[in-house]
Amino acid sequence: MDPTSRANRTAWELAHQERVWANDQMTAEAAAGVTLVPSERALLRDILATRPLVVHPQSGNGQDDVALVDAGARMVIGVDYSGHAIHGARGRADALGAACHYLLGTVPGVPLRDGCVDLVYTGKGALIWMPDIDAWAAEMARLLRPGGHLFVHDGHPATDLWTWDLDEPRIRPDRSYFGRSFVCPDDSFPAHGAVMWQWTLGRIVTAVVTAGLEIRQLDEYAEPFWRMGDVDAAAFRGRLPNAFALLARRPTAG
Ligand SMILES: C[S@@+](CC[C@H](N)C(=O)[O-])C[C@H]1O[C@@H](n2cnc3c(N)ncnc32)[C@H](O)[C@@H]1O
Repeated sequence: MDPTSRANRTAWELAHQERVWANDQMTAEAAAGVTLVPSERALLRDILATRPLVVHPQSGNGQDDVALVDAGARMVIGVDYSGHAIHGARGRADALGAACHYLLGTVPGVPLRDGCVDLVYTGKGALIWMPDIDAWAAEMARLLRPGGHLFVHDGHPATDLWTWDLDEPRIRPDRSYFGRSFVCPDDSFPAHGAVMWQWTLGRIVTAVVTAGLEIRQLDEYAEPFWRMGDVDAAAFRGRLPNAFALLARRPTAG
């Protein structure tokens, strides 16, 4: 692991330890399934109807895992490099009796064999931790059985450009859509000096296609996948992209 990713893992361990893993509100949200938003449910409906085996790389607090099982998944395997995240997600799933299992592991390098799952579900703050987007896409493709699907619902690459001004949207003077990385602001999550990587939508799509997957759908949304502290920035009110969803499939032959 490169030194930046090592430091990021430490930042995540601290953040999960401080704020996330034992949070009762998160358990209630997981039980209610509210984190799996309607657009995700619509895109995944047919796939979840087949009772897929799901892997969730970078599963974090695991709320979506419980919701995926409630929505039809046979089992969800969460993978995260934070021991605190794994411990919290496992405790939450056990408390709710959900068919979720958790593995401590790093992406890429998920400790599962090739072609073993029907659906890879990921996102909601996942891609910004990948220093190599091509290696990420290859790992997602590796995990899928032929005919299996990759689903990503994540922050739009443009969303980090917007200020959180309440009166009108503005572009931050310290960011570029074509930038390489930036340090997580102190008023955001997980902070602790974590470094986020930037990938344009074009680079993400190209990485997925280069990994051998067929893109089925690519949607952009005004609503962020998450609002830090429920902030109601003008940039989140319908005019600008803040999230995207991508559904891709591993071809059955090849
Ligand atoms: C924004 S969080 C959680 C995202 C998760 N999908 C959710 O909605 O709860 C990102 C997670 O990615 C994990 N993470 C970051 N880089 C990772 C890597 N290279 N391998 C494994 N986990 C990683 C962090 O520990 C953190 O739990």
